[in-house]
Amino acid sequence: MAERVTIYEMAPRDGLQNEKAMIATPDKVRLVDLLSQAGFARIEVTSFVSPKWVPQLADAAEVMGAIARRPGTAYAALAPNMRGYIAARDAGADEVAVFAAASESFSRKNINCSIAESFERFAPILDAAAQDGITVRGYVSCVTDCPFEGEIAPEAVARVAVALMEAGCREVSLGDTLGRGTPERVDAMLQAVLRDVPADRLAGHFHDTSGRAVENVGVALDHGLRVFDSAAGGLGGCPYAPGAAGNLATETLDSYLRDRGFDTGLDRAALDRAATFARSLRKDLP
Ligand code: HMG
Ligand code: MG
Repeated sequence: MAERVTIYEMAPRDGLQNEKAMIATPDKVRLVDLLSQAGFARIEVTSFVSPKWVPQLADAAEVMGAIARRPGTAYAALAPNMRGYIAARDAGADEVAVFAAASESFSRKNINCSIAESFERFAPILDAAAQDGITVRGYVSCVTDCPFEGEIAPEAVARVAVALMEAGCREVSLGDTLGRGTPERVDAMLQAVLRDVPADRLAGHFHDTSGRAVENVGVALDHGLRVFDSAAGGLGGCPYAPGAAGNLATETLDSYLRDRGFDTGLDRAALDRAATFARSLRKDLP
């Protein structure tokens, strides 16, 4: 039997958070429902963040309340602080994600605090989630490059990844936020992280600005990672990372993984329908 690789679908959150035009709530719900039909085990639906910072996702609770939940799919949301965690939990999130950065400047631009302060905010979330039986994922942004500081040292990434794991995150997702990582630098970064964090606690999250995301997935697969984040239709970007383009497109990742002999567990025809709908939401396409 082919080995399973899990694709964590990001389009409704990492994709839509960066759209210039406001997407109507029913369209977001439709996107999530189409993705559920494709059989994803995990879908990141939205973020419970400040609507002043990310107005595109201000309807987080409405979206969570309106989606059709497929048994076997975990529906996740980002939570930057306790307020976001409580809102996510009350909206029925199966999993929440806290998000840190390997770069001080990006941490300040993205969540308005230092890396150390961000961990003080995460601690009560992890305590509450443990009591509530909610899994917590942790992100490290800027694992190769930062839009403000340039190249990031692999050791800086490893420190933040270890801290997230020690804080209680079940899984740490390594984000090439800018999408400028080369396979060589991703390899060096992974070697540093894997000294302290096992591969089965890591996920790869590669934006595709330089068109090398698939190669970077290949490097991570060779290091034993088996969870990858991507967005149907290649939607995405971070509003606080100038120059960052879309996530790796899920349909590209699915084809690549199948070609390498892995099983993604997805219904390809349903995925293509979801990706077509996702692309139709992008107002920047002709
Ligand atoms: P702040 O301004 O320092 O915090 O923002 P604050 O506590 O002073 O709050 C500011 C306002 O937001 C207040 O409202 C709060 O009530 C409200 P006001 O009194 O001015 O009317 N507020 C909230 N509202 C709703 N839900 C909340 C919440 N918290 C405060 N949870 C804060 C700090 C963290 C809130 C802010 O910086 C923020 O929301 N940042 C989110 C930025 C973001 O979502 N970025 C994109 C996600 S990360 C990413 O894309 C990278 C990733 O994909 C991986 C990769 O690619 O690398 C994950
Ligand atoms: Mg991202």
